[in-house]
Parts: sequence; C-alpha cells; structure tokens
Amino acid sequence: MNILGINAYHGNASAALVCDGKLVAAVEEERFNRVKYAAGFPAEAIRYCLKEAGITLDDLDHVAVPRNPYARLGTKLFYALRMPSFARERVRVISKFTGIPAALAWAFDSDPKKLTAKFHRIEHHQAHLASTFFVSPFENAALLSADGLGDFASSMWGLGSGNRMRIDGSIAFPHSLGLYYSAVTQYLGFLKFGDEYKVMGLAAYGQPAYLDAFRDILRFNNNGGAFGFKLGLDYFTHHKTGPEMSWAESDRTPTLGKMFSEAMPRLLKAPARQPEEALQQRHRDMASSLQARLEEVYLGMLKKLAVATGTKSVCLAGGVAFNCVANGKIFDATPFEQVYVHPAAGDAGLAVGAAYFVWHQLLGQPRSFVMDHAYWGPGYSAAGIQAAVQASPVSHGGHTIAELPDGELFRSTAAIIAEGKILGWYQGRAEWGPRALGNRSIVADPRRPEMKEILNRRIKHREIFRPFAPSILAEKTGEWFEKSHPSPFMNLAYSVLPEKRDKIPAPTHVDGTGRLQTVTREANPRYYALIHEFERQTGVPVVLNTSFNDNEPIVCRPEEALDCYLRTQMDALVLGNVLITRE
Ligand SMILES: [Fe+2]
Repeated sequence: MNILGINAYHGNASAALVCDGKLVAAVEEERFNRVKYAAGFPAEAIRYCLKEAGITLDDLDHVAVPRNPYARLGTKLFYALRMPSFARERVRVISKFTGIPAALAWAFDSDPKKLTAKFHRIEHHQAHLASTFFVSPFENAALLSADGLGDFASSMWGLGSGNRMRIDGSIAFPHSLGLYYSAVTQYLGFLKFGDEYKVMGLAAYGQPAYLDAFRDILRFNNNGGAFGFKLGLDYFTHHKTGPEMSWAESDRTPTLGKMFSEAMPRLLKAPARQPEEALQQRHRDMASSLQARLEEVYLGMLKKLAVATGTKSVCLAGGVAFNCVANGKIFDATPFEQVYVHPAAGDAGLAVGAAYFVWHQLLGQPRSFVMDHAYWGPGYSAAGIQAAVQASPVSHGGHTIAELPDGELFRSTAAIIAEGKILGWYQGRAEWGPRALGNRSIVADPRRPEMKEILNRRIKHREIFRPFAPSILAEKTGEWFEKSHPSPFMNLAYSVLPEKRDKIPAPTHVDGTGRLQTVTREANPRYYALIHEFERQTGVPVVLNTSFNDNEPIVCRPEEALDCYLRTQMDALVLGNVLITRE
C-alpha cells in the first residue's frame, strides 16, 4: 500500500512516500527549485518520491495533506468576521487545498479522473505529532508539538501508545510559542523567514536582564488548563491583522508580516533594531531573555506533560522543537529520560506525519518502522558523479582528481581536515530536514579556534555569532559532553565538558555548549569511518560539521556540490569516492 504525504502551499513544501509502512523517500521542494524554505506545490519532491519507489501516480492508494480547513472552524469564523483580509486569505488557501488532486494531476500531466488514491486532510498538529511518534523507537511516549501556527493552533499534546495517538489538549490562535519567538526576532532586526535560529545563537552572548519584561510578553495561563500559556497580546499585532504566512508566487519565498506592536519597544525601553544596525549588548541580552522565557514555559509544559502521562519518553515536533538549547535541558528540567525529535521537525516533516497518520491512526496498521537516520533524499550513482565531474570546470585544470578506494579515501580526507583545510563531503542520499548530517556537509578541524572565522569568511558568509556544530562518534559522547543521550539529528545542545572545551573550540559555542550530532556506524558508515580515521590521526573523535551550501538550500545534486566548491574557497571536495583538491 502506497501513501503519499504532501506539505503544499505552505513554507517548507515537501513530499514523503510510505510503502507498506516503510518510509521510502522524503524531501523538501527547496532542494530541487533552490529557493530556501520554498512554499507552493512540491511537484519535484513528489516526482522524486515516486521515482525512488518505482511507482506512478496511479499506484498511490492514499494521499494525505497536513491541513484541515474545517479544524477549529468556530475560531476561524470568529477571526474571519473581524478581519476581512484574513477571510480572503482563508478562502484562497482553502481553495488551493481543495484543488490538490487537480494540482497533482496537472503536475504529472495526468487525468484527474484517473487518480484512484483516496485523499485525506489531517489536522496540522496531529500530523506533527504523528511525524515524530510513529517513527520514534518508543512504544509509549508523551507527545508535544509546538510551532507558530497551523490549522489555527500553535501547540498540541497527548500520549502515543503502539499504533495510536491520544490527543489531550491544544492551544489555539493567537497564543503561540513560535509567534512569540518570531515577533521578538523581528523586533531584534532579523526579518527573514527562519531567522529565529540566528537569535537562538545570539542568546548565548547575553544575560537574561530583561526576563521580567519577557514574562509579561509570554505568560503562564493558569486558567487555561494544566499546560496553558498566553501571549501579552498588547505587544503583538498578528491577532488583529491575520496570522497567515504568505509567499510571493514569483519566487516562492515565504514571508511573515510584522508581528510586534509599538508596545514592545515601550516595554523594552528601546526602539526596534534595524537590520543593518550594529548589534548592541542590549540586543544580546534581549535574545538571552527571549530564550530564557521560552525555556521556562516550554520546559514547564514538558514537566507537566511528563507527570500527566506518567511516561519517561517524549516525542517532539513543530518548529519550536528545533530549539536545541531548550531540548538539551529536558533531561535536567523534566522527568523525561528519552527524547526523540523528528529530523524535519518543522513543517516539511508534516509530509511524513500525514502519511503515517493514515497508515496507523486511520488504517490501524501495526508499527514496523523506526527513523534512525535521516538519509531519505536523492542519491546519485558513481556514474552520475563521474559525469558531473567530467562536465564541470574542475576537469579543465587547476584541480587534482583521484578516485580512491574506501580506506585510502578516509585516510587522505581525514589528513586534509587535520591540516586545517576545508572539505566538502558529499555522499549517498541527501538528508531529510534542515541539518546536514554527514552526506551533504562541509567538514573542518574542530581543534582550531580560528576555524569558525575562516569558514564564515571563506565559505558560509553568515553572522559571526552563529555557532558551528560538532559531529562525534556516538560511543564517545559521554567523554566529551555532559550528557550522552543520542542526538542523531542535531536537535539537542549539550555542554562540552569543561576540560574538553579547548580541545574542540571551533564547534563549542560561547556558552560552552555544542549542538551535536552523534554518529553511529549503523546510521552512516562512511561518515563514521571518516570521523574514526580523524580520531586515529589526531586523538579527537569529533569533526566540525556545517551544511554544504552558501546562503542557499543545501546542495542536492553533485553539480551543485561542484559549483559550491568552485564558487567558495573550499580546499577539497569528496564526491562518493572521488577526491578533488585545488592545485
Ligand atoms: Fe507547523
């Protein structure tokens, strides 16, 4: 039985295909159309998923879309009556959703009448919860989804048992942890979709000097049930102007309208920062306070959820679940002992969630799949890599190209990294989710404090305050970090042990933490072998890992990896077994 999940007409458009309960493929549209966070209809992502499984549109039994226009209809009508522009937007979105079968048929040049698949609309947060619980290793777990907004809710929680999820509660618009973070991110002068993660990095440079003010911006709502929080709505505008994300049809980049009111600068006693304005200490302190308050509320919710469900395991999804700093504190701040975060915790992951919701919750099928790695995107054969290399300017001189057997490849490559050079590492199938996890990664020496600045200047061109991440051999985690619970998808940040911080300064953040990836041989044998060889040569079982891109979606095809290598000042590139170095 073939189930296609689609996240369409929303940021992070994506597709995923589940065949007989096993995930076959999952990918974001941005990897193909090269527009970061691309919205719209994910035609290329769907095409790839079907190709990977060797099936066509006619072979689909079910198509699941993670949006239910009829969820919370009463609340939606209430706001639609108050905000005509919002009502128009709803009509536009709903008509797009009801047209998904037609869009699908159109994208594949097929007759809509021939589509035999059954269509399902799954509520946004139920799809988030399904995306994490049904692919987790847990038989029973508490569930929490938290994001900006989806189907008029911003959080949902419950309990997963076997092949069923029970929903225990939710928080509706306009109250939202995600919009809280987004609004303050805008106030701090970061206006692009997805900039919340920059502010999370900035927070480590400040002190929570504004915590009292942020406790007024984001409040506990003791009347709103055990897990309640609410926004101090005076500081926001989204409840008056409409909450929907929009995107330009031309370039498909999602944007959010202004979300904070003039009461926010009054409370914080400073005007909003302009994007080009230099960062002051007060901005760092505000970022720190924003993060500290998020942690108080988020960890508070999780603590209550642990008590209410009586479980030791929790599954997380929704954009807020990318807050690796907060996630890393779950073990100390709550009774939970096991945490699973879906690698594409944001809205891309809804495609997987919607498909698994159909398979388990609607069809009652037993569990048979655990997502223990994130390599569900396109891969390219050795012949495809060779063809790309031959067609690239690298084969016209100035570069040494060698095809090496595995052992020699890992030895040479580890030595290149240990010499302080910057390496593009391209292997196998692309990662699902926003983190490069050793298949589309730029890898560098973690021992060199100057490496962060070198990477930013030469390759990544991003804000200097943003940290780089460490990849560590999983079994060595406890020798280098204060926690050793697996973090295979880079969704948890732990403190580096104080005596180890000067051994891996490059991926250690200013507050002594690292957003680590724990690497096992089973999940990624080639990346594991590379780090293992680096350890043999240097004594350090860690490499610095950052995504293979330069202000663009992560490279997908070998051609894009070659272009990025040529365009930036990367020293060496490995594509499969081909090692390319600059002469
Ligand atoms: Fe979401």
